[in-house]
Amino acid sequence: MPDPQDALRAAATKLGIGGYRRHVLLCIGDSCCSSKEGEAAWDALKGALKAHGLGSGPNACYRSKVGCLRICCQGPILVVYPEGTWYHGMTAERIPRLVREHLLEGRPIREWIFAENPLPAAPA
Ligand code: FES
Repeated sequence: MPDPQDALRAAATKLGIGGYRRHVLLCIGDSCCSSKEGEAAWDALKGALKAHGLGSGPNACYRSKVGCLRICCQGPILVVYPEGTWYHGMTAERIPRLVREHLLEGRPIREWIFAENPLPAAPA
C-alpha cells in the first residue's frame, strides 16, 4: 500500500522545494491594485525569474501569487523572504529591476521598500 504522503513528496520534489534560497509572494489584488495590473506583474515576475535562471541554483527563488497581503493600498504589494522585505507599487514595469537587483544580486531597492521583517534562521 502506498504511503499517503508519497503524492505530496512527489509534488514538492517536482517543484524543487528544498532547494530554494528565497520565496517571493506577490499580491495580484484587487484592493491594492487592479486584477489586470496584478496579473501583469505576475507574468513579468515569472518571465524575469525564468530569464535569469532563478528556478534553480544558488539564488533559486520560489514564487507564489496571493489574493491579499493585508496592506491593501499602493500595490501590487510584494514581499521577499527570508529577508522579509516588503515592496509597494510592484508593477510589471518595476519587476525586472527587482528580480535583477534584489533576487539576483542581493541588493534590495530601498526606495520601493515600506517595511521590513526578517525571519530568524530556522532552528537546527
Ligand atoms: S489586496 Fe493586495 S494587499 Fe490586500
